[in-house]
Amino acid sequence: MASRGSFSSKIGFIAAAAGSAVGLGNIWRFPYEAGENGGAAFLLIYLICIFLIGFPVMVGEISIGRSTQLNAFGAYKQLGGKKWGYLGYWGILSAIMFLSVYNVVAGWAFAYFIQMVDGKIMHITDFGTHFSEQISDVSDLFFYSLGFMFLTAFIVARGIKKGVESASKILMPALFIMLLALIAYSFTLDNALEGIEYYLIPDLSKINLETVYNALGQAFFSLSLGMAALITYGSYMGKQENIVNSAAWVTSADTAVAFLAGLLIFPLVFSQGISPSEGPGLVFVVLPGIFASLGAIGPWVGAVFFLLLCFAALTSTISLLEIPVTYLVDEKGYSRIKVVIVTSIIIFIVGIPSMLSQGAVDFFTNFTFYEGKVKTIFDVVFDIFSDVGLPLGGFLMSIFIVKRWKINNFHEELAKGNPSYKGSFMEKYLKFSISYFAPIFLGAIFVLTVLQKFFGIKLI
Ligand code: PFF
Repeated sequence: MASRGSFSSKIGFIAAAAGSAVGLGNIWRFPYEAGENGGAAFLLIYLICIFLIGFPVMVGEISIGRSTQLNAFGAYKQLGGKKWGYLGYWGILSAIMFLSVYNVVAGWAFAYFIQMVDGKIMHITDFGTHFSEQISDVSDLFFYSLGFMFLTAFIVARGIKKGVESASKILMPALFIMLLALIAYSFTLDNALEGIEYYLIPDLSKINLETVYNALGQAFFSLSLGMAALITYGSYMGKQENIVNSAAWVTSADTAVAFLAGLLIFPLVFSQGISPSEGPGLVFVVLPGIFASLGAIGPWVGAVFFLLLCFAALTSTISLLEIPVTYLVDEKGYSRIKVVIVTSIIIFIVGIPSMLSQGAVDFFTNFTFYEGKVKTIFDVVFDIFSDVGLPLGGFLMSIFIVKRWKINNFHEELAKGNPSYKGSFMEKYLKFSISYFAPIFLGAIFVLTVLQKFFGIKLI
């Protein structure tokens, strides 16, 4: 078999995995989820979910990949037999579906970046209408999303070291610096303090089941969990690397960027007297208005912001495409380039209905009805493969480690590259979380979410 490649170093793995984690989820989704779910109260529950469940599940995924050095399907099959291989298939299917819609949003970010650069945005007066027109204007979006998929495919085709790792090593620090510069600016605006208070001082009465499942869903989305992305990246990690330590870096980087995105956006939102619960349009409606009001430098600040969003999205789309690509290269022995071309075309085509579902085609826009609202096909795919699917993937993975692979083998893998692991507090903590906390909590949330979302039954 041809060499499948590997990350060159610990930093290479961390940059790529943090690149996967940091994405639209942090900068686009996190602020609007927080804005819709009570600001600081959501932030608090989110941090608890990351610490108690997200981090241990991340360690679990990486260890499964690293131990087998195989794709999602191959890894589960090797450790657990053919039946468990289906869990790998579920991860691969989820990645394909998820990427098909994720790429549509990435196309929006790309479109806004171009409009900032060419100054078009300065002539707009109503940004809400502009956003609705923009996302229903398929002639434009088609090319932006296609462009995005092309960039993703190009990088993945170059392979793990030359493509994924080198792109992440440049894009991630650039993103961090741009974010800090924008935050410094947002703090200088009127009413910035009100935004900071909304974001940092929790009102505990705002916490309910919905806050919890939204926070948990957001944690999984943001950390790229439950879909085998980190099994895949873990499979390219050397045996001498310390998994726990790498996962801690990735989790911290991801959490820091989400936290900073909130710190940027809430002062901006409050400085304009806008409601923080704008929903998915938050960064696309609120921010361009603010950039436009800044005068001559506005489009430049805006261009930096949307470039940042594109960078973040790109390192995530790369990891999503890598999941089916690694599978086909490992299991079927096809050449990487061919696999990349075929899978990216298929995924782009699968995403077309979602692209058309923002007003362009009525059938996809008013696709179905649940949770008391009309849902587009875009919503349905995200609901199934993100809000419900990711925690389900995490639940099944923890059951797999405990019942099939066995916790001792899990610990053995973690001890490689980490001599002080055995007997440490971390060992006990991970054992407790993967054996009890993650499966019980994720299982319960899965059932409650399905009942509430799709059947309108509210148990709590
Ligand atoms: N973590 C990415 C984000 O926050 O945008 C999204 C993502 C990438 C989810 C890869 C899942 C995944 F496997």
